[in-house]
Amino acid sequence: MGPSGSARPIGVFDSGIGGLSILKALRDELPQESFVYVADSGHAPYGERDDAHVIERTRVIARHLRAQHQVKLLVVACNTATAAAIQTIRSEHPDLPIVGVEPALKPALLSSQTRRIGVMATRSTLASEKFRMLLASLSSQAEFICQPCDGLAAAIEQDNAIKIEALCTEYTRAIGQFGTETGQVDSLVLGCTHYPFAHDTLQALLGPQVQLIDAGAPVARQTRRVLQAANMLTDSGTPAITLCATGSTQALQVAAQRWLSLGKSISLL
Ligand code: DGL
Repeated sequence: MGPSGSARPIGVFDSGIGGLSILKALRDELPQESFVYVADSGHAPYGERDDAHVIERTRVIARHLRAQHQVKLLVVACNTATAAAIQTIRSEHPDLPIVGVEPALKPALLSSQTRRIGVMATRSTLASEKFRMLLASLSSQAEFICQPCDGLAAAIEQDNAIKIEALCTEYTRAIGQFGTETGQVDSLVLGCTHYPFAHDTLQALLGPQVQLIDAGAPVARQTRRVLQAANMLTDSGTPAITLCATGSTQALQVAAQRWLSLGKSISLL
């Protein structure tokens, strides 16, 4: 029998290692909580696949996390899956609190002086109805230059530094001139949870004055608010982190060690 009530873990998932950028923020915000992380590496990447594939994978993983781990809340730590599937899983699990992630356009509005903001995300995220609505609601406040970044999540997953740098160079050039002068792009939204792992490469390319903005901290704060409202913050026990992958465990192993100092063994799902 699993743990009961508020001691149950929080489920977190992504197509691969990207969601670790969210898990990192969640651990900082909620150090007492336990987490079960699923990397769907056997069915990745999501960002250049059709919605039906992403919806089906999200449904399978949500059911698994509930049945096998009794998660008390689910964080969809993937912009692509949130855009394609969050409505479906919310309707299938009305009793489960679910937190999603969307490109951090609103936080970028707070930091941008030039009102020209770059957005890097997967092709699917940018094409989604959910993103189009978000963009439409904010487009009177700034100009957002959106760039689909085919192959970048896969290069990050493969830890291929040369490819990561080449793709970051190509995509940031396509967005335009970065800088803090009028007419330049002064803020860049990392609208895929993999991209924070290319943070240093991007910052070196764009210069220190350009703001790189991801959704880790806002998602973690929202998770805290939702747990608090449901009276489900844990008040006891030793936090545990469980990492699982549906395909190769290699990338997850390396990334968990490097980014979260988690020398965990990974179970295969
Ligand atoms: N990390 C995912 C996101 O936030 C997608 C990566 C992929 O294409 O699988 O959109």
